[in-house]
Parts: sequence; structure tokens; C-alpha cells
Amino acid sequence: MKLTVRDIICKKQNAEKITMLTAYDYPLASIIDRAGIDIILVGDSVANVVLGLDSTTQVGMQEMLHHAKAVTRAVKHALVVGDMPYESYQVNPEKSAMNARSFIEEAHCDAVKLEWFDRCLEVTERIIKSGIAVMGHIGLTPQTADKLGGFKVQGKDVESAKRLIEQAIALERLGCFSIVLECVPDLVAQLITQRLKIPTIGIGAGPWCDGQVLVTYDLLGLFERFRPKFVKQYTNISVKIKEAIEEYKKEVKEGLFPTREHSFSIDKKELDKIIL
Ligand code: KIV
Repeated sequence: MKLTVRDIICKKQNAEKITMLTAYDYPLASIIDRAGIDIILVGDSVANVVLGLDSTTQVGMQEMLHHAKAVTRAVKHALVVGDMPYESYQVNPEKSAMNARSFIEEAHCDAVKLEWFDRCLEVTERIIKSGIAVMGHIGLTPQTADKLGGFKVQGKDVESAKRLIEQAIALERLGCFSIVLECVPDLVAQLITQRLKIPTIGIGAGPWCDGQVLVTYDLLGLFERFRPKFVKQYTNISVKIKEAIEEYKKEVKEGLFPTREHSFSIDKKELDKIIL
């Protein structure tokens, strides 16, 4: 059965931890879904981990919809959240509800996520009023990291911690169904989690959030450019992939692959009729 926004909120009420991972394509989304993860985020982290770009602000609506469509084709159980790219609501707040609608109607996502920015409340309200479920994202917001002094933990002093708490409360009041807390001190994340009725999903926010998200490529060891402190790498699949590719290369060079086992045959009578 496909999970709904209501099911996700109920998990907090039932003290059941929420699991969330990113996916950008059909095969990985299908594996994640079959493993029983609750929420799949088609993250704008696709920019860094898949497209080799420096910043998440470099992906736009067309790329995000392309990846979101591949993911939703695969998913039967998880709630799928489309991550709104920078240009779709920060550069052009007027078009935010229309862009959010594209994630739902064109790409068949169940909800959208947007990062905190100076007009966040106005834009979130606009999207929620148009009938679309929104996941908030506060703390370290990579799309505007330059305004936060870089990729740094947020909420480490009283003013900035209070600001995060106020942002979380404001997003809940507007009707967000959950909020990602990225790079927030664990005890501040705990305060926010206790204060809200909707679930918090942590990434670099300690053990007391209602749920946890990771970039799947980090967990699998598939992204090698850098590894933030909050990442736990559960396997190193890059090593296994490289070994398999090296073996393929060796077998092709040595004439060990392909063999007749991987070939197609022609009837001898037909072959004999071929006159060169
Ligand atoms: O794009 C992404 O992967 C994200 C997660 C880190 C929450 O926003």
C-alpha cells in the first residue's frame, strides 16, 4: 500500500521512526522502495552526486522532473517527495505553485520539499493553498549556503537556535507535513522535535529527530568527492563496481568474454547458403 502524508504524520504520533533516502533513477528507487523505506526524496543533490556539478543551484525544473519521473515509475510503497530546485521558487516565487504542481501532475510525486529562504513563508503558503503537500527544510540550506557563511552547522548560539525554532513553528502553522533539519546541534533538533506535532527528519541533526534522511550515494560509498561528518557509509559499492569493470576489461582483452554461452546461433543450413 502506498504511504500518504497522513501515514507519515501518524508515525510520529505512534513513536515510529521515519526512514527517508534520496533516489534519482528507476533502478535505485525500486531497490529502496522494496527495502521498505518510508519516503524517497528526489533531491536536488542530484546536481552534486550524479551530474558532477558544484552546486545544487545548477539544476533546474526540467532536470528535476526528468529524474522525478524515473523515480515515480519505480515506486509502489514510499511517499515520493520532489525537491524544488532553486530557480523554481527562489528566483521566481510567483511561479512556485505552478512549478510545484508540475512535480505532482507531470512527475507524479506525492509532495514537494523547499528550503528555507527569506520569502519561504510566503511561497510555502502559496503552494499549500494550491493543495500541494510541502516538506520544509531548515538549518543548513545548501541552495543559500553562501548567505549562511558556507556549509556550516546552524543554530549553535542562542539567536540562531531561536531562529530555527521560530522557522519550524511557522512552517508547521502554515501546514507543512514534516520538516528536514540539516546540520543542527542534536539538542536544538531535540527541542524542535519536542515542540512540533509534525515529524522532523534529521540529517546531521542527531538521534532525537522523528526520522532520518541520507543521500543514498553517500550510504553506498558511490559518491567519492567528499564525505560530511554526518554520513555513515554502510558499504563501499564503488570498490565492487570497479572490480567488476576491471574483470570485464580483462576478459574482453583476453578473449574470455563473450563465449558462445552469450552468443546467438544461426542454423547451419542457412549459414551454408551465404556466399561471399
Ligand atoms: O537534496 C537532497 O539530497 C536533500 C537532502 C540532503 C535532505 O535535500
